[in-house]
Amino acid sequence: MPERTPYIAANWKMNKTVAEAAEFVDALLPRIAATQSDVVICPPFTALTPVVERRYGTAVKVAAQNMHEEEAGAFTGEISAAMLVELDVEAVVLGHSERRQFFGETDEGVARRVEAALAQGLHVIACIGETEAEREAGETEEVLRRQVSVLEADDGLVVAYEPVWAIGTGKTATPAIAQQAHAFIKSLLDVPVLYGGSVKPDNAAELAAQPDVDGALVGGASLDLESFAAICRASSH
Ligand code: PGA
Repeated sequence: MPERTPYIAANWKMNKTVAEAAEFVDALLPRIAATQSDVVICPPFTALTPVVERRYGTAVKVAAQNMHEEEAGAFTGEISAAMLVELDVEAVVLGHSERRQFFGETDEGVARRVEAALAQGLHVIACIGETEAEREAGETEEVLRRQVSVLEADDGLVVAYEPVWAIGTGKTATPAIAQQAHAFIKSLLDVPVLYGGSVKPDNAAELAAQPDVDGALVGGASLDLESFAAICRASSH
């Protein structure tokens, strides 16, 4: 089996100004120079360019946190794939549960955005995951199957399994729960699958050690320099 390079993405959500992002990346790069992970930083739109400029000449990649599926037009407040490509952004996070929960995104809408992003040559981190109520009702596989059913395997596509009950709650899925969900997702779609939901320096290694966990999408702990650097180190084994 070829050795996997773990993929560690920092989802900053609506955090960090340009000045804060620049300072963070300048301090992060020397700390992760020796790690074997593929590190992806996902800043807010306003901080994409300063992060892109700082990561030139390194292996770090930059992803936006969302985009619209249309190429251009009357969509106030939206950003297109071409606008991201112009900034030398390599990837985009789509369908995050916060987008689904607070901004009404649907599986079909996510699918259209995924297609538009891939068509422009962006890599995509497509997020899926069940809520606590769905898990308790025994509907986890049904929900994952529905969310995956609108996606097609592609070299540029990575899925992030983020159980909604684990996001920002400190309730990480156990390695066994994550492994089971990842194996199920991979039985439906042959793409790398990242785990997201309260990943911290002290649980990153055991999650990354699961055979079907190909990396992590890190929210809260990616805002702190030392904890994100520790997660990058812990995940590359
Ligand atoms: P968290 O967020 O690490 O703060 O739980 C993960 C995510 O929402 O991507």
